[in-house]
Amino acid sequence: MRFSRTLLLGGITLTAALTATSSAVATPAGADHHHHRGGHHSSSVPRDSLRALADEVGLRVGVAVNTDLLGENATYTRIVNQQFSTVTPENVMKWEVVEPTRGKYNWAPADELVASARRNGQLVRGHTLVWHSQLPKWLATTAADGSQSTTLSKAELRAVLKRHITDQVRHFRGKIWQWDVVNEAFNDDGTLRNSIWLQKLGRGYLADAFRWAHEADPKAQLFYNDYNIEFTGPKSNAVYAMVKDLKRQGVPIHGVGFQTHLDTQYGFPDLRANLQRFAALGLNVAETEVDVRTFVKEGTNEPVSGLAQSAQEAYWSQTLQACLAVRRCISYTVWGVADSNSWIPGVFKGEGAALLYNDAYQPKRQYGVLQQDLELAAGAPRRRS
Ligand code: XIL
Repeated sequence: MRFSRTLLLGGITLTAALTATSSAVATPAGADHHHHRGGHHSSSVPRDSLRALADEVGLRVGVAVNTDLLGENATYTRIVNQQFSTVTPENVMKWEVVEPTRGKYNWAPADELVASARRNGQLVRGHTLVWHSQLPKWLATTAADGSQSTTLSKAELRAVLKRHITDQVRHFRGKIWQWDVVNEAFNDDGTLRNSIWLQKLGRGYLADAFRWAHEADPKAQLFYNDYNIEFTGPKSNAVYAMVKDLKRQGVPIHGVGFQTHLDTQYGFPDLRANLQRFAALGLNVAETEVDVRTFVKEGTNEPVSGLAQSAQEAYWSQTLQACLAVRRCISYTVWGVADSNSWIPGVFKGEGAALLYNDAYQPKRQYGVLQQDLELAAGAPRRRS
């Protein structure tokens, strides 16, 4: 069951008739608990929460979860479970966490998150199987200039990658809605990133990864995930050509994830057009790591100006509207709860304030903007819980 989405035409919002349509596209695979619709899950889910409102328009809204905070910080935990209908492990399914010592798996933190999701009627995005970053030390070393190397031979590396994908996907079999099978394989100029995977295995590792993952869990939706593909340009075009080619070869790929880490200094991308053209290949699409950073007053998460704040609000609105406008955009995930737990200040100097809640876990205006966009999309007036 899925309701038609709001159409935005020339600045006029036309709410399409709220007719229920059956849709195979929107049906989550690989999870037996997905019939439990987010908003109807429990009386503890407020009717004006993001998840309840998104449920009205057949969209899943997700959050990246820091498992050190889940269950430890009550406010954080309440927000995760009341506001979101999918979760993504921010770090605990990455290779350096799941296999810090060669041959010794550490599934416990991810298992706990998956169990929590089940209790709270949430689906899980698995993140991520093949990446150049956050690899264990026994597998790869990265030099100061960013170049990567491994001591493993080609044959050994291929066997290690196959075993990693097979074991991890099997471990979570039936519990993962979407897997980010390959993450960030391209450079901004559209060439393939010179990771240990490309160096030793050649570009064939891309198709292999999807085939191995599909064998291990045939029901999971398998995604390619990347950043800066929201803008049409060399990178987005290269990813488009790659996924089109994989589809043509019959490789089991089901979706493309647009990370959507935006910054108010770079302008808003032609995101909707990009979601649309990838969807037209017969793929699902998702916004997988949304955050909108801006320049902040030193050492704070306060935008430098009112202009920066209003630009952020406009960007948030447009990211969600782009997904709402594309039927095959099946989930919208934000990369963290509060500004105080965002990765942005640690990585982008002088920037922050990238999320929906402030340092004190109070919802920011960005949050209200998303609520309103969802309400408009559902064509219903706000009903307070
Ligand atoms: C980030 C996490 O948020 C940080 O906690 C971690 O230290 C580094 O990774 N693209 C991705 C995510 O696909 O996995 C990254 O997450 C952010 C960029």
